[in-house]
Amino acid sequence: MELSLYTHAGQLPEAAAKGRHVVILDVLRASSTIVHACENGIERIIPVAEVEDATRLVSTLDRKKTLLGGEREGVKIEGFDLGNSPLEYASKKLKGKTLIFSTSNGTVAIAQSAPAREILIGCFLNLSAVASHLVSNRAKSVALLCAGNMGHLSLEDLVCGGHVIDRIVRSSRAKTDLNDGAIAARSLAACFEDVGEVVRGSSHGRRLAELGFEADLEFCSKIDKYGIVPIVEDGRISRKSIAG
Ligand code: MLT
Repeated sequence: MELSLYTHAGQLPEAAAKGRHVVILDVLRASSTIVHACENGIERIIPVAEVEDATRLVSTLDRKKTLLGGEREGVKIEGFDLGNSPLEYASKKLKGKTLIFSTSNGTVAIAQSAPAREILIGCFLNLSAVASHLVSNRAKSVALLCAGNMGHLSLEDLVCGGHVIDRIVRSSRAKTDLNDGAIAARSLAACFEDVGEVVRGSSHGRRLAELGFEADLEFCSKIDKYGIVPIVEDGRISRKSIAG
């Protein structure tokens, strides 16, 4: 299995995503919010890169059954129903609903991976489920795409990617071939025993704490809370495209 890690959205050119299994890692917070919303029973998630795409799309759907969610600069977008705190995505709000979701980096990374064979959503919450999915499906070429933050790498995404790689290397019977990003992330992950410390100490974590989202940091640091893997198919995640 060829395992390559890319440090931020934009580093994996669209054409290079073609035919590969791409894992979108945005620990803070898009991946964590998507995984939590799927676990909490959302019917469908349509990730979009731009706020304008979200508002255009919502005007074509039944508003009573549709939620607009996402953030810019960490806070809820004006006129949207929900922000990007996973803790806002409680099950009673989500049942039977379609979520149109736009964030600064995570949904951009998803959009840039459109030509992939499969787009998986990963974070600490479903770390082992992502690794098992790739191993049991005998994935040949995997790109772990860290969303990062506005073109820069994010420590928490890199450490999460390192843990996914480590689990795959340890459990796969196939020979694994790592790029330098994957080797670096795996070594980095081995340096930190406490991912909560990584998340709290990261620049994105500190910024979110300043904005009052400390509880999100604790939540997004939970390893293997869930056993599901949301998969983006034809630009959306539906109940039937959630593995696990
Ligand atoms: C993103 O997509 O950049 C993040 O999820 C931002 C955030 O923490 O809200």
